[in-house]
Amino acid sequence: MCGIVGYIGKKNAVDIIMSGLHRLEYRGYDSAGVAVIRNGSLDCVKSVGKLVKMDEKLKQNPLDSPLGIGHTRWATHGVPSEVNSHPHFDNDMEIAVVHNGIIENYQELREELKKGGANFRSQTDTETIAHLVRKYYQGDLFAAVKRALQDVEGAYAIGVVCKKNPDVMVAARHGSPLIVGLGDGEAFIASDVPAIMKYTRKVLYIDNGQVCEIRRDGYKIEDLKGNPVTLEVKTVDWDDSAAEKEGYPHFMLKEINQQPDVIKNTLRGRVTEGSDTVQLPDMQVTEQELKDLKKIVIVSCGTAWHAGLVGKYLLEKFAQVPVEVDIASEYRYRDPIVYPNTMVIPVTQSGETADTLEAIRVAKKKGAKVVSIVNVVGSSIARESHGVIYTQAGPEIGVASTKAYTSQITAFALFTIWLGETRGVLSKAQGREMIAHLRAIPDKIQWVLDHQEEVIRCSKDPKYLNAQSALYLGRSYNFPSALEGALKLKEISYIHAEGYGAGEMKHGPIALVTDELPVVCVATKGDTYDKMVSNIQEIRARSGIVLSVATEGDEAIKNHSADVLYIPECYEPFSPIVVAVPLQLFAYYVATNRGCDVDQPRNLAKSVTVE
Ligand code: F6R
Repeated sequence: MCGIVGYIGKKNAVDIIMSGLHRLEYRGYDSAGVAVIRNGSLDCVKSVGKLVKMDEKLKQNPLDSPLGIGHTRWATHGVPSEVNSHPHFDNDMEIAVVHNGIIENYQELREELKKGGANFRSQTDTETIAHLVRKYYQGDLFAAVKRALQDVEGAYAIGVVCKKNPDVMVAARHGSPLIVGLGDGEAFIASDVPAIMKYTRKVLYIDNGQVCEIRRDGYKIEDLKGNPVTLEVKTVDWDDSAAEKEGYPHFMLKEINQQPDVIKNTLRGRVTEGSDTVQLPDMQVTEQELKDLKKIVIVSCGTAWHAGLVGKYLLEKFAQVPVEVDIASEYRYRDPIVYPNTMVIPVTQSGETADTLEAIRVAKKKGAKVVSIVNVVGSSIARESHGVIYTQAGPEIGVASTKAYTSQITAFALFTIWLGETRGVLSKAQGREMIAHLRAIPDKIQWVLDHQEEVIRCSKDPKYLNAQSALYLGRSYNFPSALEGALKLKEISYIHAEGYGAGEMKHGPIALVTDELPVVCVATKGDTYDKMVSNIQEIRARSGIVLSVATEGDEAIKNHSADVLYIPECYEPFSPIVVAVPLQLFAYYVATNRGCDVDQPRNLAKSVTVE
């Protein structure tokens, strides 16, 4: 949440910052600001609303400087307004700060700083940092930031500039993501790699408790106490086009359409042609550990939690290990019991979700082995885990998660096959067969993408388009699909939607069924198909509007449904990967037909780095 970008070099910092902020807009978009140091003064432009507003303002008041910092905000403390938008300043407007995170002791700091003469302009926690740096500033910005941060509790990634130090930018991190990009005679700071991918591939991943002084010709990193730190310069190999829409009207649609390739990428290097086994060396677990495993606990949030639920069905069935799936924000505040030989699997696209990060810290303290399923390489959760399965989905920029979800389920499928074989639950022949089913998934997704006419037609139908509310039902492997389908619809179209296990329908939700309620029923061929059809008939008997997701060739389902979205025949345990696609497309088209901004839905941000 919140995106920060900074630049020091010879080019115009404002162009680079704005291009970076546009690529980070998925992190927050309620207001924005840029501050630059030029000719001995500190100048700033801020605006409320999306970044296009900033673009317009900058056209009217162009800024030009080789040093600056910028921010796109997702409000935590104080409403979105110009005065609350970053950068924030000290009394004399000499020091400017951008921040991502939450300063937990900001009230105490604020009171104390006020007594010392600090004049607060905003309601934000961030402004305390600007005044604190001022308090300790004696000509050396790096020293002042290190000292100020010793007083701060909470999470932060910050960028700081001072008009008296026009050759220095200082950045620091504790809990919120921060990278430093290194160029030729120039350097960058950013919350995430896509912001600077256009300019450099050489990146330092700043770690918790580290502060970096960045100059045009070099940098140094120390901890808050002044001990030097050496970090390896990493080369990022993402394709820059990954951060562009490439002709699609929205990132979300691009990412939905990328899924055949994404699944191939998730499989790449893990299953070789003709092989009957899975390789996941980055998991850093031994065969013995897998054999001794007594329990798996999956912790995650939102869509990633739904992927974890599918993971439970797979792991329990094919590896015969008991699995619990926990919402990370609940797990972290319980006193969870962690028996020996428990593996905790956080699932996360960003690798920065605050609750998931804290949940794994709790689990580690209690002795669990933590192996994460993560998309963003080098992210906090990847680094704090004992081992990782990278989903290899590429940057996901649309706020609603699509390709990350299907790649997370694919990662669970891979782990299931490996674990099942290692524990002797699956034979090599069964493993080989499951791998073949996984390899078939990209073509099945492509089939859905090639047959979008029906979903597009339905999305324009007033009975769906103008619905106040919708129910999603599924069973077994596709119970999580119902939850995920409902989440997709509600978050981007603002239609209230609930997902339920279809067997639960009679225990309450059936009371909602009327001739105005769309009920999306996942009724693909599988063990619970007949039960689903019975549920559908019960809904029809009460005049509910049934939109079925069914298997190609199932003509009978038309008799019970108002409309049907087909997927090709699919191995049931992996069917949630394919079922996700028509549900994503349905949510996407309904939302765009309702005029909603699907890439930047109301109140949401991509990376939830605060609780
Ligand atoms: C929904 C969505 C969120 C995320 C959740 C976890 O479309 O994107 O529910 O899935 O915030 O985020 P990560 O996976 O980054 O931990």
